[in-house]
Amino acid sequence: APPSILRDTEDGSESDMGENYADINWEGLSFSLTQTDYMHVMKCTKGEKFSQGSLIRYGNIEISPAAGIINYGQGIFEGLKAYRTEDGRILLFRPEENALRMKMGADRLCMPSPSVEQFVDAVKQTVLANKRWVPPPGKGTLYLRPLLMGTGAALGLAPSPEYTFLIYCSPVGKYHEGGRLNLKVEDKFHRSIAGSGGTGGIKSVTNYAPIYTAVTEAKANGFSDVLFLDSATGKNIEEATACNIFVVKENDIFTPAIDGSILPGVTRKSIIDIAIDLGYKVIERSISVEEMMSADEVFCTGTAVVVTSVASVTYKETRAEYKTGAETLSQKLQGILVGIQTGCIEDKKSWTVQV
Ligand code: COI
Repeated sequence: APPSILRDTEDGSESDMGENYADINWEGLSFSLTQTDYMHVMKCTKGEKFSQGSLIRYGNIEISPAAGIINYGQGIFEGLKAYRTEDGRILLFRPEENALRMKMGADRLCMPSPSVEQFVDAVKQTVLANKRWVPPPGKGTLYLRPLLMGTGAALGLAPSPEYTFLIYCSPVGKYHEGGRLNLKVEDKFHRSIAGSGGTGGIKSVTNYAPIYTAVTEAKANGFSDVLFLDSATGKNIEEATACNIFVVKENDIFTPAIDGSILPGVTRKSIIDIAIDLGYKVIERSISVEEMMSADEVFCTGTAVVVTSVASVTYKETRAEYKTGAETLSQKLQGILVGIQTGCIEDKKSWTVQV
């Protein structure tokens, strides 16, 4: 049962534990922050294990100016969603995959991580405590953002003496309004420290702000997002700012292989499985820009973007256009994925977890 703190509401009245919906415009959701009621916090000191977390009111956190996360970027994050089904249940999609990826990132950045069980339990508690913020079916999802960060103070370069695992959430709508992307291939910057042996394969907080310069310039020129090339050769596609990329050519599906510099997306992995089940050949390997430019269809996958069609890719002076719309493979795959996530299609793989 949720802790008693959940019975208190801002105005002092008894909470109904979220049986009703929050009073917001559910029609107008975008991928932006709406503050909810509670967040989950769990701390541990270096060398120890995470033990007991708790739900507290959503709000600012106090942090040392010398914290590892602020000074040296010792932090990773995750993203997953809670879905409300037509028959009133709330489902998570493969949350243990996020827990495992967080552990992988924590190992890379010398941090302790919550166990898979602790992670999934904390996510469930966060969803239950913020149940009234889970959008009605078809209106959006509750996006959960687990953070793991060095919050202890240290001046020199060394793993933080204390760590905080925190989950906050926000109801969200579409990441990309309009739903069809015009990508620019970035030919100056690379994605993060994404070369071999870097951090491109984990969800390090340091992988994200370095994309701002490229994406700001691309957006000013009318593009929706940028697509990064590998830093080793500058010839092969890696991923866009917040999602993995797929290329469809003569009915075969290609996506860059997970080689340490590409984020192993949960949506990426699920789309590969769905496509294979449908009888498609999915090939994970290096894909050159030239190959992509001559593809029939291109699409992006990610928790935030789900499955989004790419209408065009521009590389230097060349622009390639691709098939979009209802008849595309990406729409077919998206329909199945979202169907499973929202409980409309039978979940034969036990991917969903009821909260
Ligand atoms: C997600 O899809 O969950 C992400 O983490 C992308 C984020 C950078 C918005």
